[in-house]
Amino acid sequence: MSDVQDEVGPVPPAELAGYIVGLEASDGVVAAYRRQGAELREAIVRELGGVWPSDGARALDFGCGSGRVLRQFAATVAPGQLVGCDIDEPCVAWVRDHLDGVEAVLTGEAPPLPFDDATFDVAWSMSVFSHLTDRWAQWLLELRRVVRPGGRLLISVAGGGASQQLAGEDWDPDRIGMTVRGPGRPWRAGGPMVLHSEWWIRAHWGRAFDVVAFEAGGLAGQDLVLLERPSTPAPSAADLQAPEPGEPRELTAALHAVALAHREHLELNRQHDAYAEAYVAEMATTAELRERIAALEQQVARGAGRRGLLRR
Ligand SMILES: C[S@@+](CC[C@H](N)C(=O)[O-])C[C@H]1O[C@@H](n2cnc3c(N)ncnc32)[C@H](O)[C@@H]1O
Repeated sequence: MSDVQDEVGPVPPAELAGYIVGLEASDGVVAAYRRQGAELREAIVRELGGVWPSDGARALDFGCGSGRVLRQFAATVAPGQLVGCDIDEPCVAWVRDHLDGVEAVLTGEAPPLPFDDATFDVAWSMSVFSHLTDRWAQWLLELRRVVRPGGRLLISVAGGGASQQLAGEDWDPDRIGMTVRGPGRPWRAGGPMVLHSEWWIRAHWGRAFDVVAFEAGGLAGQDLVLLERPSTPAPSAADLQAPEPGEPRELTAALHAVALAHREHLELNRQHDAYAEAYVAEMATTAELRERIAALEQQVARGAGRRGLLRR
């Protein structure tokens, strides 16, 4: 068991609490992790209530990280009822070792998941699709596969509440659609980010699921999408990705994504130039210091030589 406990159960070390938000370890990060976990629990029970938590229901937390949500339910579920999966080994190991009754599975960057079709009654994925830049359609279809027909999924996405932070501009859903920021950014720096508009989610995700509700700002800083898995045949990833026919905002969003990428490119070049300048200055200082060290070494050597002559 973990050394640190609170009223919910074991609390992970600050490094793991910080990992899921891309922040360094600190007491503040742990406090935020615990507070946000309670908020996430509230949202899940509100949206999936009736099905989860309830006896016999099975749930998947896709991208569970260090168990911010899992630990909220861990003490009250029966073994096998609650499963979490993530690509981060230390997070999965902590969940496995500390949250009794929760099954934690290390999964890959690409589908499939190691679960049979229709294994789960519900699934949720909090602050994960707000980072999935390339394989979002494949993952959405994989979650569709492992949830039973009629089962529900709750997925959070970043929208209006994150526009200033992620894009440095006021929220205008008509020009966002699905827009990627910081592609390739490492997880320790918060990972890449994706902004979504409601119209785009309804058009694209609606090809694989019934969109039951879209709650703008349903979660502090993020929007909530409630989906139901239909029993119709699954579409392909290409079907999900194709622009919505006759939707003019697709072009507006594509052009705006280019403008944002251009801005991001300029900023990265500016930072690159600043680093390059600092590097050149650093090299000049290093060369100067080396010369002074060499001169001092010569002085010391000459002094030692003279003392040697005197002693003889
Ligand atoms: C912002 S954190 C959120 C963690 C957790 N859902 C929560 O709300 O506390 C995003 C998580 O998604 C995980 N992740 C990213 N890509 C993934 C993938 N393809 N499959 C599973 N997990 C993934 C990351 O390792 C990270 O733990």
